[in-house]
Amino acid sequence: MSDNEVFEPAQEIVDEAWVSDWQALEEQAKADPAGYWQDRAHELEWSQPWDAVLDDSKAPFFQWFTGARTNIVTNAIDRHLSTARRNKLALIWVGEDTSKVRTFSYFALNREVERMANILKAMGVVKGDIVTIYLPRIPEIFFAMLACAKIGAVHSVVFAGYSSEALNARIDGAESKLVITADGSWVNGKVFPLKQIVDEAVKFSPTVENVVVVRNTGSEVTMDPTRDHWYDALCKLPIAKGHCDTVQVDAEDPLFILYTSGSTGNPKAIVHTHGGYQVGTYTTLKYCFDIKESDRWWCTADPGWITGHSYLVYGPLLNGATVFMHEGGPTFPYPDGWWELIEHYGITSFYTAPTAIRTLMRFGDAWVRKHDLSSLRILGTVGEPINPEAWRWFHRVVGNDRCPITDTWWQTETGMFQITTVPSMPLKPGSAGRPVFGQEAAIVDEEGNEVPDGTEGYLVLKNPWPAMMRTLFHDPDRYLNTYWSKYPGLYLTGDSARRDEDGYFWIIGRTDDVIKVSGHRLGTAEIESALISHPAVAEAAAIGLPHEVKGNAVHVAVVLNRGFEPSKQLEADLRSHVAETLSPIAKPDTFDFTEKLPKTRSGKIMRRVLRARALGQDEGDLSTLDND
Ligand code: WTA
Repeated sequence: MSDNEVFEPAQEIVDEAWVSDWQALEEQAKADPAGYWQDRAHELEWSQPWDAVLDDSKAPFFQWFTGARTNIVTNAIDRHLSTARRNKLALIWVGEDTSKVRTFSYFALNREVERMANILKAMGVVKGDIVTIYLPRIPEIFFAMLACAKIGAVHSVVFAGYSSEALNARIDGAESKLVITADGSWVNGKVFPLKQIVDEAVKFSPTVENVVVVRNTGSEVTMDPTRDHWYDALCKLPIAKGHCDTVQVDAEDPLFILYTSGSTGNPKAIVHTHGGYQVGTYTTLKYCFDIKESDRWWCTADPGWITGHSYLVYGPLLNGATVFMHEGGPTFPYPDGWWELIEHYGITSFYTAPTAIRTLMRFGDAWVRKHDLSSLRILGTVGEPINPEAWRWFHRVVGNDRCPITDTWWQTETGMFQITTVPSMPLKPGSAGRPVFGQEAAIVDEEGNEVPDGTEGYLVLKNPWPAMMRTLFHDPDRYLNTYWSKYPGLYLTGDSARRDEDGYFWIIGRTDDVIKVSGHRLGTAEIESALISHPAVAEAAAIGLPHEVKGNAVHVAVVLNRGFEPSKQLEADLRSHVAETLSPIAKPDTFDFTEKLPKTRSGKIMRRVLRARALGQDEGDLSTLDND
């Protein structure tokens, strides 16, 4: 990997960009981060100004724009309605069956959000309540998220691929009274039975009173008349009609919680708030993707993940852009479906994951070349490191050597980009770029000392930023311990990286027990407990192994219970068991059936040994191994 391969931006890109002189802005923001964020916040509307931009008196429980009142929906929708954007397309949606198209102007989007919000209110949802949303990539997920925000409720979106058990844990954790789902979703031509999964998930849920069901696939579902309501029927009722005010909330009031995998134990619920989050997502999308009035922005992420929250739903609407959302994946029914959509809808800005790029690259250039992609202006990637080969292919074949690629490093916790580029910066294939304006990052060793450039170490962030998580829901101690205790005053990212002499960061991977599979974040603990819940499994350990397309593959070492023998059939059974109890994303790729897991004397699984075994490498120092 060469640090010296550099793509200089074309002069017209520099001239046209929001940020032409990035060095100047970087310096200015470094000298006065709060001032930088204050200037950005002034571009948005607040019904009451802030007393302080940043309150660090309770650090690391930082607060931003304290005392201010606002609502992210005021800025994402309402403020556009009094301008010419009122009639601009806010959302273009295309189904997996691409003959299904729905479009919404900002005016129409507002009407839909008001309707959903009226329904939520009629169902007794009040400010601060957490509504669980289990919807696929259909317009109603926009309406549902925005409707919650509009009335000051908190949304908890659960990726509509999670199993009933995972969904149940998240509903109970949030104590939701209401779940919004659909009859099903389309996945590669087949129906995924969302409603059935919700039925299982809420069976023993003590809190759920109502389930709202959007008709999407038209599949047969069972409706419990005391609990379940078709959304289209609710829309026809008088309760759904009329204007609904956007409630002004405190800048620090929660906007959403989003569960994500951690290194140990249960998934954790990250808390984000209205005020800082809107400033962070608005600014980073505007500058890093140079969002302009005429852009058509396509982010392929699912709203079930943070990328969908920040850069499919909120960021683009805050910028008054036109968002494009597609229900389908990259290869169904043909591997040029996405290119066809870019051509047909004149997409200007295309943001996706390295896994998708690597998958599509394997089908060859011809599928791309069949299409006129000249509308594209800028490309982007997220979720995992992009290998330079895939970067170059994306740049040359998809971007026709013309479009800058914005690689964006960030996390569910950070809410917004942290290490990335703006289009006027030189680009280095494989490097995520530089800390965003107002941020400083460092690479440190075990003791917290900064290491020389070029040396690998722990990636930490030095400054607070507006869209940072505020805490872990119901677990402030875990917030402190996970992110702020290893190096007091520095935010621990959990990633390893190195910085080159030009100040560009090269992300290497996770240092904890999180595995990034196709850009999806999985905790080894979750995979292991899914396996152990199978009658054949006594003990299990999961690790990530390098994989050409997925970035990482899931490899598991399994100790079987007496009476069970390893077999291909058992592997297949365990795979589907993990898919059913956790998610199809988490299915193990390879198995190592073993008599005993390598553990330290204190009982910790030695994943390093498992990795070496799986890769056929020297197992290294085994002196701490418990061999009894
Ligand atoms: C990884 C996704 C390299 C990283 C937005 C991080 C990346 C984790 C990149 C967070 C990137 C994300 N280059 N690695 N551009 N973006 N990661 O919470 O390991 O799903 O810590 O957020 O993904 O994953 P999460």
